[in-house]
Amino acid sequence: EAPREPDSFRALLAADERVEPRDEMPETYRRTLIRQIAQHAHSEIIGMQPEGEWISRAPSLRRKAILLAKVQDEAGHGLYLYAAAETLGASREELLDALHTGRQKYSSIFNYPTLSWADVGAIGWLVDGAAIVNQVPLCRCSFGPYARAMVRICKEESFHQRQGFEILHTLAHGTPEQHAMAQDAVDRWWWPSLMMFGPPDDASEHSQQSMAWGIKRFSNDELRQRFVDMTVPQAEALGLTLPDPDLRWNPERGSFDFGAIDFSELYAVIRGDGPLNRQRIAHRVGAHERGAWVREAASAYEAKRTARRAE
Ligand code: 3HC
Repeated sequence: EAPREPDSFRALLAADERVEPRDEMPETYRRTLIRQIAQHAHSEIIGMQPEGEWISRAPSLRRKAILLAKVQDEAGHGLYLYAAAETLGASREELLDALHTGRQKYSSIFNYPTLSWADVGAIGWLVDGAAIVNQVPLCRCSFGPYARAMVRICKEESFHQRQGFEILHTLAHGTPEQHAMAQDAVDRWWWPSLMMFGPPDDASEHSQQSMAWGIKRFSNDELRQRFVDMTVPQAEALGLTLPDPDLRWNPERGSFDFGAIDFSELYAVIRGDGPLNRQRIAHRVGAHERGAWVREAASAYEAKRTARRAE
């Protein structure tokens, strides 16, 4: 029998108000938020790798500057979100250790390779586009620090999505080779982007409880459908096709019908069997270890400052 939720907590949810770190909350609510916020932060940090590989190979100084700004934004998003998770009592070291040892996850999408410059456009347009659809409702999440972190992150994500769209628009309206490169990237990133929204609702372990707690405002399938409906017209504007022969407007539903998603691929990637899971974590652990001296220097500096203040 689950322990009774504190009345003050139930009252905040009923009034659709924010739960703050010092408010009484069920331990299961706290643990769910640490899980989701930490994994969201891990996604932002690991998400720097696929695009980061193209900073040194961007086709112009302008594209390089934009990509640098985007990857730097992702690092910032990760830090906001780790800070939000820390308000619930989690420590940064614990969360990073959970990522490095595979006890916590990051979004499946970042285990796919970026094979050409067009992939940077496809990631901005599709992956950041999907992230926006998923993250805008999180601005109204019941937990205050998470909702507030989302407001600023969503503003920066819209720049990420626009620059991706612009890269693909330039390529799709360039030479036939450039158009083919853009189409190839969209063909590879479309289905994995739909998988970002998670398992189907009838197979989602956490959705019902997360929705009851006002953490998840819409179900995985509702947000997935919203993303498809938003993206199909944009693909037409780009002059690119989406790799789904079953995609068609359904006037009765007022939405696009689309083909069946191969969720066995999502489960395989979540299990660690995606194209680049091992490489992504190895790169992350290596960077953490190579950066240990920075953390040690910062701690030594802080210790000296504290000692001086105590004199
Ligand atoms: N990749 C990896 N794991 C996934 C996943 C995916 N695409 N979709 C679901 N899962 C995991 C869940 O984490 C959960 O496992 P866990 O219990 O070990 O955490 C399990 O599969 C069951 O899925 P549920 O639908 O029951 O789980 P949730 O209710 O947590 O829903 C979610 C999953 C929709 C991803 C939700 O956690 C969420 O909205 N998270 C916040 C948003 C987020 O993390 N987005 C990552 C996108 S990347 C990004 O934003 C970076 C941007 O700059 C591009």
